[in-house]
Amino acid sequence: MSLLTTNGLVKHFGGLTAVNDVNLSIEENETLGIIGPNGSGKTTLFNLLTGFFLPSSGKVTFQGRDITRLSPERRVSMGMVRTFQLVSVFNSLKVWENLVPCITWSNKLNQSFWKFLTSSAYNTWDSAKEILELVELEGYAQVVTAELSYGDRRLLEIALSLSLKPKLLLLDEPFSGLSDVEITKVLSLLKTLKGKVTIAIIEHKISAIVDFIDRLSVMNEGHIICEGGPSEVLRDSLVNECYWGKEETFEVERQSETSFDRAQNSSF
Ligand SMILES: Nc1ncnc2c1ncn2[C@@H]1O[C@H](COP(=O)(O)OP(=O)(O)O)[C@@H](O)[C@H]1O
Ligand SMILES: [Mg+2]
Repeated sequence: MSLLTTNGLVKHFGGLTAVNDVNLSIEENETLGIIGPNGSGKTTLFNLLTGFFLPSSGKVTFQGRDITRLSPERRVSMGMVRTFQLVSVFNSLKVWENLVPCITWSNKLNQSFWKFLTSSAYNTWDSAKEILELVELEGYAQVVTAELSYGDRRLLEIALSLSLKPKLLLLDEPFSGLSDVEITKVLSLLKTLKGKVTIAIIEHKISAIVDFIDRLSVMNEGHIICEGGPSEVLRDSLVNECYWGKEETFEVERQSETSFDRAQNSSF
């Protein structure tokens, strides 16, 4: 059984169909990449999966349960956690304080009320420190978040997600706005999660994720136009047409390292 499936998912914004009849499956513990030109509906799809938008029609199933109309918070409590295209952390708080609501929430879910009441004060700092160590930000625990680099704030955002103990982690362009050094840092963190947490990652820099993902889905104009093994998908003529406007296939190594990234950069 897939961890998550969508059936005929559609989202209209007025006359625009941002997501159009999407049938997606995400298997337990796999790492799925989602690519597509700017405006192809990738973020809207994540918003539908996580309950930020209700679909115009279609169904979302998580762990065999119909969650189409469930609130985002209920989905988080079931283990579906996301990050945002623009880093979303509390800039005015100290770094460790960012983690407090998430840790409190997940303690509530995982402990009896009595145990939660008696142990939360001590556990919160302890747990925050542990999670910050995981993302190598423990040295910044007492720093005001706004003072961190954008890359470190991205790491903090992923730390927030991890503190919620996700079964499915949805990452919307986690490398956007980051330097190559920062990308390497975030990617090596994500590599430690691979196989332990199910990951769906939207990314426009294919070269960054081609060796990281198990499967690749390509969106264009609201549809998933191709899915499968990354190298096979990057060789697909429809995918090439969507980026280049002509039916031509490219060597995967050329596509993954240069041509595809350039094509995507020009459309983002
Ligand atoms: N909240 C919204 N209201 C109206 N239109 C939206 C909204 N969010 C996205 N769209 C539109 O839906 C289409 C898909 O956008 P989006 O999902 O953000 O694409 P992507 O993430 O692939 O760049 C775009 O045409 C965009 O303008
Ligand atoms: Mg987007």
